[in-house]
Amino acid sequence: MPIRLAIPNEIQSGERRIALDPSVAKKLTGLKVSISMQAGAALSSHFKDDDFVDVTMVDDAATLYKEASLIFKVQPPTLDEVANIPDGATIVGFMAPQNNAEMMQAFCDKNITSLAMELVPRITRAQSMDALSSQASISGYMGVLMGAQKASVFFPMLTTAAGTIRPAKVLIIGAGVAGLQAIATAKRLGAIVEAFDVRSATREQVESLGGKFVDTGVSADGEGGYARELTEDEKQQQQEVLAKHISMADVVVTTAAIPGRPSPKIITAAMVADMKVGAVIVDLASEGGGNCELTQPGESVDYEGRVTIYGPLNVPSELPVNASEMYAKNLFNLVSPFITEDGELELDFDDDVIAGCVLTHAGKIVHERYRSES
Ligand code: NAI
Repeated sequence: MPIRLAIPNEIQSGERRIALDPSVAKKLTGLKVSISMQAGAALSSHFKDDDFVDVTMVDDAATLYKEASLIFKVQPPTLDEVANIPDGATIVGFMAPQNNAEMMQAFCDKNITSLAMELVPRITRAQSMDALSSQASISGYMGVLMGAQKASVFFPMLTTAAGTIRPAKVLIIGAGVAGLQAIATAKRLGAIVEAFDVRSATREQVESLGGKFVDTGVSADGEGGYARELTEDEKQQQQEVLAKHISMADVVVTTAAIPGRPSPKIITAAMVADMKVGAVIVDLASEGGGNCELTQPGESVDYEGRVTIYGPLNVPSELPVNASEMYAKNLFNLVSPFITEDGELELDFDDDVIAGCVLTHAGKIVHERYRSES
């Protein structure tokens, strides 16, 4: 039987993205998938119901779920949402498995197959399915725009009748996907950009975007191209070099993360105290607790009227059109190779990418990182 794909409204507060855009809807219906969507669900992403051709609009979520064999989501479903999902269905979305043991158990109880977008392997073949990257690049871009908007100085150098304005100094900490996009965005706005990361490969990437690499002498390459946690001595060395650069910056955008660990604390309260008056920190690592000791996730902190520290959450939602388009394409690229000529879903659990991101299947947690002991 052809896939019956359901796209529910995203109910988490502040979530403006949706897991389907009109162009991906068209591609899926071309593959004989029948699609239902909760009426008005895409409005927060600025798509109207009418933009979705051959998609059935359904008023309430319970009815929508009842008929579904496949569900696309952005945020992990709540337990109430899982209760509406039919036994044996497949769900694909961000699952935050480290925080959602009950959700995984509920999936197992209902034989729901779940694919977690954050677990898609970072391999070359899976780049078009990599939602962590597509959404991180939006965060990097938006983080710099937030910093520019809050900064007390222009980013570009300006020669005006009232004199010459020097360009702003922007420091980007962490040069992964978000950090590299942040460097490129700050450069386009005309700032002088410095950047820093503990992975040695990033120097060349930073320089190729026109940024100046800050060399702290600390290199902490970890497994799978990620960073490892620093030792106390390394942290000390890093902080000594970074302190000088932080004190000269007008805007600091931080993006440093270590998989499965809280965000590393890189900017101390003492470093903030030493910053320029009017300087701004945009801490894009807030979801994991933040890279600055003073960050309050979801809040802005005014440090003695001198420095403002922003801890934005769910930044990709701030650019909902492109975030939804990119995310929907990631979902399509992950699932479409497994849609048969008759529009049925036949996942291959031996496929590297599916094996890497399948969380639950046939009543069990199958992902090795989250597999239950029992
Ligand atoms: P992430 O979000 O885990 O971390 C962001 C950055 O913070 C990383 O560059 C990391 O090295 C850095 N960092 C960690 N601790 C730090 C510290 N104490 N000080 C300064 N910086 C620190 O990383 P993201 O953006 O997810 O990328 C991780 C890796 O995955 C990279 O090597 C990237 O090239 C690779 N990748 C591969 C892809 C593929 O081949 N399909 C796609 C996307 C990323």
